[in-house]
Amino acid sequence: MGLEEKFWRVNADIKERGFAQVQYDVSRADLVHAAEAFIHFLGAHESLKRTLSLPRAVEGDVDLGYIRRTKDENRYEPKEFFHYAPVIDTLAKDIDDFRVRNFLKHARFVYTHAQGLLEELLDCVSARQPGLKEKFIQDGESKSYLRFLCYPEGEGMAAKGHYDKGAFTLALAESSPGLHIEDTPANNCENCAIIMPGITSTEVAPGLRWDKSWHYAVYDGKPYRQGVGRWAIVFFSNDLNQRLIPPEETHTRVPRKDF
Ligand SMILES: [Fe+2]
Repeated sequence: MGLEEKFWRVNADIKERGFAQVQYDVSRADLVHAAEAFIHFLGAHESLKRTLSLPRAVEGDVDLGYIRRTKDENRYEPKEFFHYAPVIDTLAKDIDDFRVRNFLKHARFVYTHAQGLLEELLDCVSARQPGLKEKFIQDGESKSYLRFLCYPEGEGMAAKGHYDKGAFTLALAESSPGLHIEDTPANNCENCAIIMPGITSTEVAPGLRWDKSWHYAVYDGKPYRQGVGRWAIVFFSNDLNQRLIPPEETHTRVPRKDF
């Protein structure tokens, strides 16, 4: 399928149901290997994991690297996650630990292919909105990042309803189907990612008229394995001037715009 045809199909699906499936050149098996490498990394000592935490430098940015949320921190369910971007490789260059090196190798692979898919989509859209790609990538700089997410076994393993803060999200894999977008189950198929617009989509790419998609994850109650409830891998593409978005904006559902 050519780029043009691909764009029109994605465009129609997003307008109709809030998401589209797009071809993604990483197999389910490779994504599961990456998730396993992440879970293995989580078994490392907390102090080692913390050396890979990179707090945001500017408001509106995200914290990169390793992050743990406990249940008592306002609205969050307990979970551990990791935001991978290439800068993490620089941070880890002197760490000689197999779990770290192996996880980052997998993360780099998944990120590189997701960034490639994003650029392909931006090329399609840039034909209609010149300059759009430069809002996301300039001189090799990008604010896209890959999230590995792991919920421990137990209560509260599902994600509550919300909008994503960035422009576009690529849901790449989850341990078992649970993602619902605009109340429709959104399942990954082999070699495909799910793309949905986030809050800044209509600000960054107004010509697309892709309204933000409300989504949540439900849980079937079966843990992935002992101690590990659920995992997911998601790629977020923020533009280089991502604005600060308050939690009320991400967690309050509003009627979809009828453009
Ligand atoms: Fe989300």
